[in-house]
Amino acid sequence: MDDIKARYLALIAAAADEAAIEEVRIAAMGKQGEVALRMRELGRMSPEERQTAGPALNALKDEITSALAARKAALGDAALEERLRAEWLDVTLPGRPRRQGTIHPISQVTEEVTAIFADMGFRVAEGPQVESDWFNFDALNIPGHHPARAEMDTFYTHRAPGDNRPPHVLRTHTSPVQIRALQAQGAPIRVIAPGRVYRADYDQTHTPMFHQVEGLAIDRDISMANLKWCLEEFVKAYFEVDHVDLRFRASHFPFTEPSAEVDIRCSWEGGTLKVGEGDDWLEVLGSGMVHPKVLQAAGVDPAQWQGFAFGLGIDRIAMLKYGIPDLRAFFDSDLRWLRHYGFASLDVPTLHGGLSR
Ligand code: PHE
Repeated sequence: MDDIKARYLALIAAAADEAAIEEVRIAAMGKQGEVALRMRELGRMSPEERQTAGPALNALKDEITSALAARKAALGDAALEERLRAEWLDVTLPGRPRRQGTIHPISQVTEEVTAIFADMGFRVAEGPQVESDWFNFDALNIPGHHPARAEMDTFYTHRAPGDNRPPHVLRTHTSPVQIRALQAQGAPIRVIAPGRVYRADYDQTHTPMFHQVEGLAIDRDISMANLKWCLEEFVKAYFEVDHVDLRFRASHFPFTEPSAEVDIRCSWEGGTLKVGEGDDWLEVLGSGMVHPKVLQAAGVDPAQWQGFAFGLGIDRIAMLKYGIPDLRAFFDSDLRWLRHYGFASLDVPTLHGGLSR
């Protein structure tokens, strides 16, 4: 038995790959293998002989089995070592800049807007893009029968057949974040909420997904005058001009009272847009004093708190500032367009460092 053991252990040590190991295994442990043959011989032995030969054979079996397993593992380790050596990569080498992508103008403008409002004490709030219809509509004083629901061209999600709960929607505006932020923080509050919004609309000037920034400021004595000042400061900072004229036009939104749409004075002379001069007016946002019912829905007492909200189209103001003529190009992922209109990745907009370039 010592002879068998020595022979197989030598064969196992010499096996150079998995196939060779398998060959040795069959020769030793297979049905017709040497160890199996010896096992069969046990039957012909006297009980005394069997008492010593049996345990010895079992021990031999165990030894060969574990030698096979150990060799197999060692070969696996060696193969891995070899691969690690062959595929070695120096991750400390400097990168090779290919200058393919750029920061998308929407991202850039979102950062710019955030920097400006952060300077006025507004924090960034977020909400889900798939929203319950309570947050998107009801809480904003848009009940089920309200025409605004139909006007918004809402995308609805499906419910399983038999599930009669109202479906979720893709949020049609960032206004539901007003409710979420107020529920989470209460009053006083000053937040902006940039993000994607969705409406089933697709033509020259509409895409089914676009971007808004919501603004919300609630305190004990916030008035329409504060709204006007904030928006003027914002527009001056954003367009990087010293003077702007804003025009507040009476309007209607279910979630603000009074409501105003805001236009900026501009000129299109020579085909290029100039903000702050000329006789044209450009509509850029909707705004107003937050409706008491909205505060109530968010758990804030309208007898103690009041304030303003606004919603601004990011894509719109990006086109205006950077002279981008076609809205749909924003979402084509065309590298040539991105290289032309995009921004360097380390050029993070700040008020002290300059918003753009
Ligand atoms: N949510 C409105 C829209 O999408 C904009 C808005 C926001 C108006 C906040 C008033 C106050 O058109």
